Amino acid sequence: MATTLAKAAEGTARTTAHAARIEHVSKSFSGPAGSQLVLDDISLDVAPGEFVTLLGASGCGKSTLLNLVAGLDRPTAGTIETPGGRPALMFQEHALFPWLTAGKNIELALRLRGVAKADRKTEAERLLELVRLGGAHGKRVHELSGGMRQRVALARALAQDSRLLLMDEPFAALDAITRDVLHGELTRIWEAANMSGSAAGGLSVLFVTHNVREAVRLAQRVVLLSSRPGRVAKEWTVDIPQPRRIEDADVAELSLEITEHLRGEIRRHGQH
Ligand SMILES: Nc1ncnc2c1ncn2[C@@H]1O[C@H](COP(=O)(O)OP(=O)(O)OP(=O)(O)O)[C@@H](O)[C@H]1O
Ligand SMILES: [Mg+2]
Repeated sequence: MATTLAKAAEGTARTTAHAARIEHVSKSFSGPAGSQLVLDDISLDVAPGEFVTLLGASGCGKSTLLNLVAGLDRPTAGTIETPGGRPALMFQEHALFPWLTAGKNIELALRLRGVAKADRKTEAERLLELVRLGGAHGKRVHELSGGMRQRVALARALAQDSRLLLMDEPFAALDAITRDVLHGELTRIWEAANMSGSAAGGLSVLFVTHNVREAVRLAQRVVLLSSRPGRVAKEWTVDIPQPRRIEDADVAELSLEITEHLRGEIRRHGQH
């Protein structure tokens, strides 16, 4: 019995050793001026349940890397594994279908996941509650504020029931207060999904931003990418306990240190 349990535990450890493994990934795009190397030999693991932010100057290749992890494009060299299955994606633009209601947008994701028709409405309502939009099921997208739309987009991403959530500047277009609230919501949802005994079974997040404070506010680990080509320049473990606030002294202090490195990266490449 003990042996069986040990074997089972061993098996679990092996299959869940990482939520994403990026190994020696490079990506080039060919254009009129020839081939452009955008990502150069990137290796990065995201552990199960881990929250990682990917930080870097505009154009350094953050979205390119996220798209590769999402499987939307292929690396020129190297490998990417997401052993937990297909990741869920959330972008800066909500990309909701405007002709569907908030609830139906979520139900569509549930249908694609294979959830039975009879269960979809209840599940969509549960997800809307989770992002604190209970009662918005019948609302059209144009009736919702920017912050509410991003909440629906988050609920739709969660509807995919993925172990890995990829987020590409999802709150960049929102005002500071709304963004602050959504940081709290995302942290709460991520923590709840990773609580022992949670039915959700764990959630890792790979979150792209060029906002240093946001990166520190959210993540357990901040990975800074250099520019032209994108490489892992440096990473920081964030030991500040949650809940954090963007204006906390600890968050500000680490952000300052990271900003200095980011500035150095930008200076090296003559960007502004
Ligand atoms: N499909 C593509 N074809 C050709 N070049 C591309 C393609 N996608 C991205 N690039 C180039 O790759 C580089 C990195 O782009 P990417 O969108 O990944 O940057 P980013 O770090 O996400 O920037 P931002 O912070 O502005 O969103 C840019 O020079 C861009 O022009
Ligand atoms: Mg981008």
